[in-house]
Amino acid sequence: MRLSVNGSPRDVDPTRAPTLLAALRDELGLIGPKLSCDHGECGACTVRLDGELVYACLTLTAACEGAHVQTVEGLSPAGTLHPLQQAFITHDAAQCGFCTPGQLLAAQALLERNPHPTDDEIRVAMSGNLCRCGTYPKIIAAIRAVADASGGAAGAPA
Ligand code: FES
Ligand code: FES
Repeated sequence: MRLSVNGSPRDVDPTRAPTLLAALRDELGLIGPKLSCDHGECGACTVRLDGELVYACLTLTAACEGAHVQTVEGLSPAGTLHPLQQAFITHDAAQCGFCTPGQLLAAQALLERNPHPTDDEIRVAMSGNLCRCGTYPKIIAAIRAVADASGGAAGAPA
């Protein structure tokens, strides 16, 4: 079956990869989305499916036919950093980095729908993405910096 991944048509086999996370990582070699809890609890596998944030570990590949999937690899053109990626670096918002791909996509979706979030709105929007390294204050600072600098325009898809 075919779906669009980061703007390109890609074919995957749902019998080999029953979950969207397996299709992305194992069939297509996109290792930005991470496998962690595998139970829809941590957000490490977060991707965007037709613009909506989903946990790829809980999303059936067979249900994604014809859909547009965005992973962190599609956040910005190759060789460039999205403003959120730069802000995460500047504000030291990643330690091990395992949660970061999902955090970035959740932040992108937030700024698209709410260009001027309060810190509490950022906390709520990011609550589906856990960070074992405890970088939450720095993640909020990074998102706040992008929102303040761009009015949220940086949340727009690349
Ligand atoms: S690996 Fe999907 S939510 Fe944790
Ligand atoms: S930076 Fe390590 S889990 Fe978030």
